[in-house]
Amino acid sequence: MKKKYIFLLVLAVCFIGLTSCNNEYLYTEPNNPVTTRTDTSESLKDSPFPFGLAVSVNYLKNDECYKEIVKGEVTRISTENAMKMNVISRGRKEYNWIDPDYIVGFAHNNNLKIHGHTLLWYRQTPQWIANFKGEKEDWIEIMKEYIFDVVGRYKGKVSSWDVINEVINDNGEVYEKNGSNENLWMKNIGIEYIDLAFHFAHEADPDALLFYNEYGYEYSQSRRKGVNELVNSLKKRGVPIHGIGLQMHTNINHPISDLRNSIIMLADSTKLQVHISELDVSLNPKHDPALKLTDELLKRQQVHYCEIVKAMNRIPKEQQFGITCWGVIDSSSYMAPNPDWPLLFDNYYQKKPAYQGVIEGFNVGVN
Ligand code: XIL
Repeated sequence: MKKKYIFLLVLAVCFIGLTSCNNEYLYTEPNNPVTTRTDTSESLKDSPFPFGLAVSVNYLKNDECYKEIVKGEVTRISTENAMKMNVISRGRKEYNWIDPDYIVGFAHNNNLKIHGHTLLWYRQTPQWIANFKGEKEDWIEIMKEYIFDVVGRYKGKVSSWDVINEVINDNGEVYEKNGSNENLWMKNIGIEYIDLAFHFAHEADPDALLFYNEYGYEYSQSRRKGVNELVNSLKKRGVPIHGIGLQMHTNINHPISDLRNSIIMLADSTKLQVHISELDVSLNPKHDPALKLTDELLKRQQVHYCEIVKAMNRIPKEQQFGITCWGVIDSSSYMAPNPDWPLLFDNYYQKKPAYQGVIEGFNVGVN
């Protein structure tokens, strides 16, 4: 009898402990194995969840070694610029499909999945959109045309899309104007453009997984709140959203606990698939032009990559959409030409310690 009471008491204490957990500190280093896999990963390709790289058409066309890395290392690619509106759209119903078609062909020949980035963003929109004059209905019409034409063309070829990119400002609000940046869709249609964009994309390809992509979840409580509220309101209204992209352009000075917590929290508070969608770990966040690369910096970067991978490995399997690094070799990073080395491969196409960090992260708990 006594034993039973003690057991119940322990259970109650655990329960109170769990429910009073401050959301900010959900992450605890687990004692139990992360996974029941018995095979260790040796390359990015045999990862426990999809691992991808963002690719540039110019590099794919002109740099054989770059191309070989992409073909040999990953199972999914994201389109760094090739599927942005300023690349594809030349005017109403006028398209330039050269770059996106090239990527689709490359992926098809090499059996790679494509994550399409990005249908609507306030940046990298073509000039004709900025000049467009019309009523709300006209804006909805041009948005619908664009989404139908792009998603329709790549139906069954692009398996997932960032439908909307970056609409939350630093106060956690969906914005029309952030500094000098105007979100023309928001300005001319209103916040419902977000719902509509997801519905149109879903109609154009009902099998594609649809994502909302955002930055700053790892470092700002108000951005985190804004994203959670937006995503949960979309879900409540039955908007077809399947996942959320957390960009994570981060750096070695950023506390690892924030990065881990953000992944766990995002999974927990949205219950959607989680994509670390634009990962890079800068070694030179202050853009010091004289910074020299050292083994110590590379080691710190290795630990960051490892911990991010471990956190992805810890969320429920069905929510692990995976991780995508924002580029292949350091010099192809969008942080260049600052002296920086944020990616997994160096400029000689060699695997960096960061790469080993990712593999270590994959293999934690494999027995
Ligand atoms: C960047 C590309 O990497 C650059 O080549 C381009 O000049 C600007 O855009 N967040 C995003 C990405 O969602 O689309 C951005 O990509 C990086 C920040």
